[in-house]
Amino acid sequence: MSNIILTGDRPTGRLHLGHLVGSLSQRVQLQNSGSYDEMYIEIADAQATTDNSGNIQKVKDNVIEVALDYLSCGLDPNKCTIFLQSEVPELSDLTFYYMNLVTLSRLQRNPTIKQEIVYRNFENSIPVGFMTYPISQAADITAFDANIIPVGDDQLPMIEQTREIVRTFNRLYGETLIEPNAVLPENAACHRLPGTDGQAKMSKSIGNCIYLADSKEEVERKVMRMFTDPNHLRVEDPGVTEGNPVFIYLAAFSKEKHFQEYFRNPENGELEYNNLDELKDHYERGGLGDMKVKKFLNYVLEDTLAPIRAKRHELEEKIPEVYQVLFKGSEKARKKAAATLERVKTAIGLNYRNDLDLINGQVEKYALLHAKEKD
Ligand code: TRP
Repeated sequence: MSNIILTGDRPTGRLHLGHLVGSLSQRVQLQNSGSYDEMYIEIADAQATTDNSGNIQKVKDNVIEVALDYLSCGLDPNKCTIFLQSEVPELSDLTFYYMNLVTLSRLQRNPTIKQEIVYRNFENSIPVGFMTYPISQAADITAFDANIIPVGDDQLPMIEQTREIVRTFNRLYGETLIEPNAVLPENAACHRLPGTDGQAKMSKSIGNCIYLADSKEEVERKVMRMFTDPNHLRVEDPGVTEGNPVFIYLAAFSKEKHFQEYFRNPENGELEYNNLDELKDHYERGGLGDMKVKKFLNYVLEDTLAPIRAKRHELEEKIPEVYQVLFKGSEKARKKAAATLERVKTAIGLNYRNDLDLINGQVEKYALLHAKEKD
C-alpha cells in the first residue's frame, strides 16, 4: 500500500506558534523525509464557510495568509500538493453520498462539533452545512486515498468519523475506500501551546498569539508581557516552572545551541546554563528573574522566526506566483479526486456511462414487453 499524507487548515486567520509546534514543523519534517508517496495540504476554505457564511471576505483574505505561512515555513510545492478545497468540487459530490451513511445523532455526538456549537453560541440555529462538515472532511481525506493524517488532538473525532464512514461504505458497496490513521505530534509539550497570557490555548479571539508573521518588535513586546508565575515577585523568590508559559515555550523551541550561544560568559568561556533543566532549577530555587528568562526566550524565538519572516517577505513580493501555486496544486488535486469519485460512483452503482449491462438489460426488458404486446 502506498503512503499518502493529507492534512489541512481552515483559512480563518494567520498561523501562529501553536501551529508551528503543533503541525507545521512536523509537516515539513515529513515532507523532507521523503518517506511517503504523495502529500497533500488542503486550505479548507469551503469548510471555513460553514461558520462564516456572513463573512466570506475573511475566509478569502486568509487564504493567501495561510499560503504565505506554509511556504515560508518550508512547505515545498515540488514535494507536496497545496490546494484550495473550493477548487475541487468533486469533494462535494463525495460528501453528498457519504451523508447517507451517517446518522444525525452520530454527528450530534461528535465531541469537537459539540464543543464548537457551544463556543459559537449556535444553540438552536446550527447551520446544516456546519453540522455536516465532519462528513465533508471524510471526503477530503478519502478523495486522496490518504492513510496518514497529521493533526492535533482536537481533530481525532473527525478522523474517527471518517474511519466509520469508510467501513460503512466498504461494507455496503465493496472495498473501495482507504481507512485513515491520525498521527499526533511527537513532543507531548507541543500538542498544545498555551497563550502568552497563560490560557490553555493560543486563540485569535483572545489575542494571546504570537504569529509567524509578527515583526521582531512585536514578538519582543509580546514576550516581555508574557504571563509567568504570578507569585514570583522578586528575583530571589522561588518560582514555579510547571504550567509557566515562558518555560513551556522554552521546552518547545529551545535547542542546545541556544544555551551555547546565549549563556556563554565572554570572559572565561564558561556556560552559565547548559540546558533547560539547569535554567529551571535556578528559577525554582530562587535568584533568577523573569526578565532574564524572557530575554532568553525572545532570543530563541527570534532565532526560530527570523528565517521564516525573511522567506515571507520575499514571497510577499510575489503574491500572484503564490496564487499560481494554489491553482496548480488544485488542478492536480482535482484529477485525483475526480478519479476517486468515479470509483465511488461505480462502487455505488451510479455509473450509467460505463454500465453496458444496465443499458442492455433495459433494451431486453422493452424488447420483451413489445414482443408480448404484439402477441
Ligand atoms: N478541520 C481542520 C481544522 O479545522 C481542517 C481540515 C479540513 C482538515 N479538512 C481536513 C484536517 C482533512 C485534516 C484532514 O483545522
